[in-house]
Parts: sequence; structure tokens; C-alpha cells
Amino acid sequence: MPISRASIHGQWSSRLIFILAATGSAVGLGNIWKFPYIAGQYGGGAFVLIYLLCIALIGIPVMMAEVLLGRRGRQSPINTMQTLAEEVGRSRAWRLVGVMGVTAGFIILSFYSVIGGIAVAYAVKFASGVFVDSDAEQVGGVLDALLHDPLQLLLWHSLFMCMTAVVVARGVRAGLEQAVRYMMPALFLLLVLMLGYSMAEGAFIQGLEFLFMPDFSKLTRAGVLAAMGHAFFTLSLGMGAIMMYGSYLPGRTSIVRVSVIVALADTAVALIAAMVIFPIMIANGVDPGEKEQFGVGLIFNVLPLTFAHMPFGGLFGTLFFVLLVFAAWSSAISLIEPAVAWLVESRRVSRIKAAVLIALTIWALGIVSVLSLNRWAFSFEFAGAQKTTGMFDVLDILANNFMLPLGGLAIALFAGWVMTRQSIRDELGLHEGLWFKIIYALVRFVAPIGIVLVFLSILKLI
Ligand code: PHE
Repeated sequence: MPISRASIHGQWSSRLIFILAATGSAVGLGNIWKFPYIAGQYGGGAFVLIYLLCIALIGIPVMMAEVLLGRRGRQSPINTMQTLAEEVGRSRAWRLVGVMGVTAGFIILSFYSVIGGIAVAYAVKFASGVFVDSDAEQVGGVLDALLHDPLQLLLWHSLFMCMTAVVVARGVRAGLEQAVRYMMPALFLLLVLMLGYSMAEGAFIQGLEFLFMPDFSKLTRAGVLAAMGHAFFTLSLGMGAIMMYGSYLPGRTSIVRVSVIVALADTAVALIAAMVIFPIMIANGVDPGEKEQFGVGLIFNVLPLTFAHMPFGGLFGTLFFVLLVFAAWSSAISLIEPAVAWLVESRRVSRIKAAVLIALTIWALGIVSVLSLNRWAFSFEFAGAQKTTGMFDVLDILANNFMLPLGGLAIALFAGWVMTRQSIRDELGLHEGLWFKIIYALVRFVAPIGIVLVFLSILKLI
């Protein structure tokens, strides 16, 4: 039976807007800042292959499940999970999936905002001409100075959190929609332009080899876990962001189609970003096989070099970092939205109050990340991978490699085994044919088993 609940928070004005918003959530620092540096850390080709497999076999099914649950529940993930579970006579403890998601959102946004703040700083620096004609050493110096100045980082982080809170406080239509409408297409265009530059001026073929020629001797267990964790992170899955956005989706939209579109767009942006960065690094004499090159500073060191030597580089550099800020911004919004919506639903506080309260909490947590980039920095080894930014890495690993996949597992199990087959079919708008059987099997078996296998492998059980 199709269910016609309405969300108290509003609804997207069209299918296209949902696609833009979900793509805005998915495409962010994960694609442009993080993917290239972890692909480098974990050795390139083989890691990228595992990541792509995780997107196809785990990410896309979990995304469909999330959108579906969200649209059926039409509330924040915590209340959606509870309502849907109660509807089929199951324990309301399923709400804990939502609670874990909100917690993961807090953790992720706390460090995400620090990097988002650095992106804002770079947009400002470019606009004021800091990088004109700089060489690698000068570019590196700018980043070092910023990373070692906690007060400056804190200021940029505060600014980024304010920007996020303002949009969320304005609500679905007036806030979120307006932010994503033009930014996403513009970012995509600019990336394609930079790809052209990298093809012309970078060591393009060597870059592609590093990125796409799998060398399985370089693949570690930590690499496999990171690839899966990143598939969740980059698609915004496992913490309720996409479930939340699904709850604003108009009733008749095809969930299968929108999920595939969003996943493809997200993957394309990540691959293009990596195809821009690696060839340029190599052309500048950096060997991507050297792991020390890869850390949180990668794009901030490499991209300004591109622009410094391009005609109209100052202009393009400014534009690029402005668009990166928008990509990060539209993701940050979705990291905080489930918590805000939950507060509004449960405590009946105003949206503005909820947004301010939650943003402040996350802002405070962000101080930990600010300091782990300098004063509190320490190195540690995690499953064979060397990490150098202390608590920043700990939070990152905890949320992305463990909490998101666990949340995704619970969501797939809920959609696949707790809800009725009939309700899933209705919500997907499909008939009982081959297509439905494939999708249902992916949600019921392939995705959960995939997640469990990766977890087992990290415990060295297989
Ligand atoms: N997908 C976003 C990115 O790649 C990050 C994100 C994760 C957003 C989880 C929402 C939820 O940058």
C-alpha cells in the first residue's frame, strides 16, 4: 500500500531539485579533497578499483534503501526508523540507527568544517592575488603557515559553521534549494576545464596509470576498509543525510533512477578530480608512489600550482575555490539537517534555534580537529597505514570506516528483511520482474554481505 504521509519540514519542488540537492550532498570535499589523497595513500589503482566496486555493489543499493525509507517515513532518520519499525510490529530500538547517524554527522562535520574553512581561506587568498607566479615552495609555505596557526584555522572554521547554520535555519526551499541550483553545474564545468589543462600540461598518461592500473600487491586490509568507508562517505550514506533528503522527495519520483544518477555524478567528479591532480603532481616532479606526499594538504598544495601558471590563473583559482566552498557547503548542510529536523520534530523548537544549538555543539567539537593539525598532532599506525594528524584521523576513521558502513548495513537489513517485499516494490514503483529481483537481491544480500566481509577482513578473520 503506498503511504501518503507528509513531511512537516516541506518538500523539494521537483525531482530535478532532489537530484541537485542529493548530488550537492554527495559531491563535496570527499571527492575533491579526500579521494585523491587517500587514493595516493593506499597505492592507487587497486584501491580505486575496490572503491568503484563498493560504489556499485554496496553504495547504490544502500542509497536506494535510504531514499526509500526516508520517503516512506517522511521524518528525520531517528523518527523515520522508529515509525517504520513500529508499523511492521518491530522494536522501536531501530531508532538507534538514526541516533548513530546523527552522532556520525556531528563527528564528520566537526572536521569537515575545518577543511571547508581552509577552502574558504584559499578562495580569499586567490582573490587577493597571493599565489600569482608562485612556485611549489611558496605554495607549500602558504599552507604550512595556515596549518600551524590554530587561531586562523579556528576563524575560518567558525565562518564555515556559520554559513552552514544560516542555510539550514532557512529551511528546505528557501535555504537548501537555492544553494545548490547553480553551483553544482558550475563546479562540474570548471573541473572539466581543469581536466583539459591537466591533459595538456600534466603527465597525463602516467597519472592515469597510477590511478587505474591495479597493483594488488599494494592493497592492504586497511586500504579495503578505507575504500568501503569512502564509498559511504562520498555518497553521503549510512548516517541519514540521504534518508532525510528522501523524506522531502515528491511521491512519484523513481527512486532507482535518481539514486543511479546521483552515484554516477559523484563518481565522475571524484575521478575527474583525481585525473586533474595526479598528472599535475607528476609533472611537478612528485612521485605518487611516495606516501608521505599524501595528507590533508594535498589539493591545497597541488592545485594552486596549476593556476599559478595558467593564463587567467588568478581568476580561475578564485573561481575554483569558491566552487569548492559551495560543494563543501552543500554537503555540510546535509550533515547537520537530520539532527536539526529531529530537534524540531521532537522538541518542537524553532528551526532557527535548533540550527544554532547544533551548529554550536559541532563548532566546539571542531576545535579538536583544529588543534590536531598543529599543537596536538601525533602519528599512529592503523592497520598498517601511517596516520599523522592525531585526533583528526581518529575521528575520520571512526566515523567513515566504522559508523557509516555499520549504519548502511542496518539500513540495508531493515529495507531488505524487516519491511515487506510488497512495500518495497510499491515504493520503488516496480513490478515483480527481473529488474526488481536484481535490486532486491542487491539490497538483501549483496550489500550486507559485502559490508560484513570487509569488516571481517579487518579483524583478520578471513
Ligand atoms: N558526501 C560528502 C562529501 O563527499 C560528505 C558527506 C558525508 C555528506 C556524509 C553528508 C553525509 O564530501
